[in-house]
Amino acid sequence: MSKKILVVAGDGIGPEIVAEAMKVLQALQADGSIDVSIEDALIGGAAYDAVGDPLPAETLEAAKASDAVLLGAVGGPKWEPLHISKRPEKGLLGMRAGLGLFANLRPAILYPQLADASTLKADVVSGLDIMIVRELTGGIYFGQPRGVETLPSGERKGVNTLVYTESEVERICRVAFDIAMKRGKKVCSVDKANVLECTEMWREVAVKTAADYPEIDLSHMYVDNAAMQLVRAPKQFDVMVTTNMFGDILSDCAAMLTGSIGMLPSASLNADGQGMYEPIHGSAPDIAGKGVANPLATILSVAMMLRYSLDAPAAADRIEKAVSQVLDQGLRTADIMSEGMRQVGTAEMGDAVVAA
Ligand code: NAI
Ligand code: MG
Repeated sequence: MSKKILVVAGDGIGPEIVAEAMKVLQALQADGSIDVSIEDALIGGAAYDAVGDPLPAETLEAAKASDAVLLGAVGGPKWEPLHISKRPEKGLLGMRAGLGLFANLRPAILYPQLADASTLKADVVSGLDIMIVRELTGGIYFGQPRGVETLPSGERKGVNTLVYTESEVERICRVAFDIAMKRGKKVCSVDKANVLECTEMWREVAVKTAADYPEIDLSHMYVDNAAMQLVRAPKQFDVMVTTNMFGDILSDCAAMLTGSIGMLPSASLNADGQGMYEPIHGSAPDIAGKGVANPLATILSVAMMLRYSLDAPAAADRIEKAVSQVLDQGLRTADIMSEGMRQVGTAEMGDAVVAA
C-alpha cells in the first residue's frame, strides 16, 4: 500500500538539502523499491512569511495524515526579532507536540572514511555506530511546578521539576529495546539513580520492561559516567536510552565525536510509528543559497524514515550503502573535505548518491 510522506523544507539550506533527498526518494520510487506519495507544506520562517504562522494548521493536519514527515531545517537571522511565539523554531516544537513524538532517535555514526573529521583519535572513534534514544515529551523540560517566583525576602526562587510516569519510561525503553534487537542487542540505560528518585524508578522500570526482551543485554550507567565513557571509549555502546535532558546533552556530545554535523540524521517517533525525520543541523544561514551544504544528513534521514516509519528496511540499507560508496569514491562537500579528496557541491553529492 502506498505510504504518504509530507515534506517540509523550511528555511536556509533546508530547501537545498531536501531537494537532494527528494532525488533519492524519486529514484527508489522509479525503480519500484518503494511506493510513496509525496506532498509538501510550509513550515518555519517560510510559513511565517507566507501566512504569518510558523506552523500553519494545514501543515499540522497534513502531517497527521502522513506516515512520515521529512524536515529540512528552520530559522535564521531574518526572523530573530520576532516574538518567541512566532519564531520559526516554534514550527518544529509544534510539530513534535502535535504529533506526540516522544522518542528521539539520534544515531552517532562515524564512517571510517571520515575518521580524521573527529577531534578524537581515529582508533577511538573510527567506525563508531551508536544510537541514542532520548525521551522527548516528558521529564524536566515539561514537569510542573515550574517557573521563577519572588520570595517575601525579595530573593527569587527558580523551579523545574523532573517527572516521569512508569508508562512513559516503559514506552521509551521498549523503543530502545526494539531498535537494539535489530542491532547489537545491547542497551545502556542512563540515569542518576544514586541521587534522583525519579530516575531510580526509571531504572526499575527499565529492568522490568527488559524481562520481555530476554536477548537484550541491559546495563545501567549514571549520567556523569556516561559522559566520561562517551569520550573515553564510545565504541563500548550500542543503544543508549535516557531522559529528555540527559539525552539532549549526551546526544549532542555523541554527535560531535563524529566531527561532522552535515552527516547526522535523526528521527522522532510517536506511539503509532509515525515519525518526523530531519538532519541534526540547523538552517546554516552562513552557507544558504551557495549550493555547498552537505545533503547527506538529510539523505540519511530518509533512510531512517524508510526503516522506522515506512517499513522498507531494504531500501534504507541501499541508501546507507550508497552514501558509504560515494565517500569511498572520495567525494566530499566542503564541511567534510580533506586532502586528496574531490570537493563537490550539494547537487553533485545528491546525484552521486542516486547513481550509487
Ligand atoms: P547550524 O547547524 O545551522 O550551523 C552550524 C554550523 O554548521 C554552520 O557553520 C553551518 O554552516 C554548518 N552546517 C550546518 N549544516 C551543514 C551542512 N548540511 N553542510 C555543511 N555545513 C553545515 O546551527 P546554527 O548556526 O546555530 O543555527 C542556524 C539557524 O538554524 C538558527 O536560526 C537556529 O535556530 C536554527 N536551527 C534549526 C534547527 C532545526 O531546524 N532542527 C536545529 C538547530 C538550529
Ligand atoms: Mg540539543
